[in-house]
Amino acid sequence: MGDSYIVRVSSQKGGVGKTVISTNLAVILKSKNYDVLLIDADTSNPTVAACLGLGSYDTGYKEVVESGVELGNELSSYGSIGLNIIPGTLAIPQYKPTPKKIAEFYRKVKKENYDVVIVDTAPGSFSDLEARFFNEAIIVTLPDIASAKGNSNLAMVYEKYHIRHRLVINRVAGDSFEMTQNDIEKVYGDVAYAALPEDPIIKQSLSKHVPAYLLNQNSKFSIAAEQLSRAYQLRLGTPEAEQKNKPGFGRRIRRLFGM
Ligand SMILES: Nc1ncnc2c1ncn2[C@@H]1O[C@H](COP(=O)(O)OP(=O)(O)OP(=O)(O)O)[C@@H](O)[C@H]1O
Ligand SMILES: [Mg+2]
Repeated sequence: MGDSYIVRVSSQKGGVGKTVISTNLAVILKSKNYDVLLIDADTSNPTVAACLGLGSYDTGYKEVVESGVELGNELSSYGSIGLNIIPGTLAIPQYKPTPKKIAEFYRKVKKENYDVVIVDTAPGSFSDLEARFFNEAIIVTLPDIASAKGNSNLAMVYEKYHIRHRLVINRVAGDSFEMTQNDIEKVYGDVAYAALPEDPIIKQSLSKHVPAYLLNQNSKFSIAAEQLSRAYQLRLGTPEAEQKNKPGFGRRIRRLFGM
């Protein structure tokens, strides 16, 4: 057992599919028996819980980061698959944790020995103090120049911190006016890791509050997302058949709070 492997799902521009990708990737890896924690670290527009049909929470990421609040059942273990989730909570005015608090949070998450921790984020960058906790990042782009350009800036930030980043092109429809993969890769400066299709299953999944992969594993999106998950499965190795040696979610959460 090693430290949790933390993947930051990011983009420079908003609304490109970070949450759709985070939730589906987490669900797929969990269904393949990996020990997965999904964190909604988007404090400006947290939507993981809504995507999963978990309702809204009074306590979640904000309270865990600030610490001192007992979350108990507020933190969710998702449905029958038992995916561990730290949902986001909407705060008005917007809650911005200090970099020190965030770093302290990641330091604890790191020690929890999850096979993989998927962090859904708000658009944009992160602080110096957080940087050392991310094992890698996914950069999500749409096949258009506004999204692709912004992401090349974000890629430079990851380079600065020597964080491995992988480009995922989302909502590829193959229209004649969308950027080609080749053109996107030229702007990014490397090959794309995956291309996920535009698929009506996503709208359906959002209205039903069920991740696309659980709604229909044979949809175009689900097949491509599973392909993406395979790259992570290879990296993470075979999951432990027995997770018995690992503490339960409640215990981990109490530890996150230092209780
Ligand atoms: N592959 C896809 N096919 C069709 N529609 C998609 C796809 N991916 C995302 N969408 C649509 O794009 C919208 C934005 O997706 P999502 O909320 O995941 O983006 P985001 O990057 O998390 O946004 P934010 O920056 O606000 O957090 C969704 O409401 C959904 O309708
Ligand atoms: Mg989002």
